[in-house]
Amino acid sequence: MHIDTLLIHAARESAGAANSVNPPLVRTSTTVFDTLAAYKQAQRGLVFDGPRYGRSGTSTTYELQRAFATLACTETCIATSCGLSAITAVLGAHAGPGRHILLSDGVYGPTRVFCEKELALTGTSVEFFAAGVDVTSLLRDNTSLVFIETPASLTMEMFDVGAICTAAHERGIVVACDSTWGTPLFFDAHKLGIDISVHAATKFINGHSDLLLGLITGTLDALSAVRAYCDRSGAHAAPDACWLTMRGLRTLAVRLERHQSSALAVAKWLQTQPMVQRVLFPALETDPGHALWLSQFSGAAGPFTIELAPCSEAAFARFIDGLSLFSLGTSWGGFESLVMPAVPHHLRALPGSADAPRLVRLHIGLEDSQDLCNDLASALFVMQADEASARSHS
Ligand SMILES: Cc1ncc(COP(=O)(O)O)c(C=O)c1O
Repeated sequence: MHIDTLLIHAARESAGAANSVNPPLVRTSTTVFDTLAAYKQAQRGLVFDGPRYGRSGTSTTYELQRAFATLACTETCIATSCGLSAITAVLGAHAGPGRHILLSDGVYGPTRVFCEKELALTGTSVEFFAAGVDVTSLLRDNTSLVFIETPASLTMEMFDVGAICTAAHERGIVVACDSTWGTPLFFDAHKLGIDISVHAATKFINGHSDLLLGLITGTLDALSAVRAYCDRSGAHAAPDACWLTMRGLRTLAVRLERHQSSALAVAKWLQTQPMVQRVLFPALETDPGHALWLSQFSGAAGPFTIELAPCSEAAFARFIDGLSLFSLGTSWGGFESLVMPAVPHHLRALPGSADAPRLVRLHIGLEDSQDLCNDLASALFVMQADEASARSHS
């Protein structure tokens, strides 16, 4: 079946049993059993094999997990409380005294903070590498995991997934990827060689900005340590979030199509604006990561980043505050357009970061793209006028 059809028909077994098109939302903390034998059987299985206590999930959780594993073309899926807990479960499961974890340097900021503040305490050594670097020489005998995010959060550099997987797999090292930007519809992580793929379903997958959820996919073997870690640490998802995510999944393909066409239209228009120095979006032919994007992705719905022409703090604020259709907030992937100042975590500590480029992250929502361009045009106009008047007074 084509993925568009799967999105509609996946996870409807219990719906059929309930004479409904939607599966029931099963909320429970306590799972009960008819016999001692059934109870013992459930306790023997892996915690994610079937219900045994609320933390291991209800039928709602299992339906979403099965549907998402199918969409990601792999064996299994674990739902966690949010995208960050999915990431920390993968990292935590591969951490330990004497172990070495290698990460791409543009990972989502809180991923980096977790490594620096929490993993360091476990005796794990953590190292970051930049886009374009050959990881072969960075892999060590004690490297337990290579964790990448492509494109990088905020700075949008592309990583060569195939080359990274080949180098790591030659040494038997697991590769995990934060695949939130691509979703399984635009980024076939496992086919490219990724062992463990992590999604903040909070973003496009749910798409309605009303919940937090993480999803981890891979083979049973690749996820066995992560399952054990989630079980011991209580990283599990609430059934309500799983049910809503299942609802969001049904429209993922059509939403992504619209996000993609609008993001491209707005990005191309921004490239023509004098106050915009650069648009960092690998789907654009002019982007340095475009060739890699073409070889690894089948689409791009954003978000993307723009670099504004050098300007004062005040003019920068005038631009952000001058937007009315773009709300100022740190998320993305929902129905609504969002803007935020982008301060990439891996560039914060660099000398001279006070003069760092004026980066702005945009998520293009489902509004009309011309309305969005008009909104950006008036904010850029206000900013330009502010900058010009500041210059004439100095
Ligand atoms: C790329 C990426 N990964 C993970 C996360 C974390 O997701 P959550 O907010 O559900 O913890 C985010 C959130 O912004 C993100 O942008």
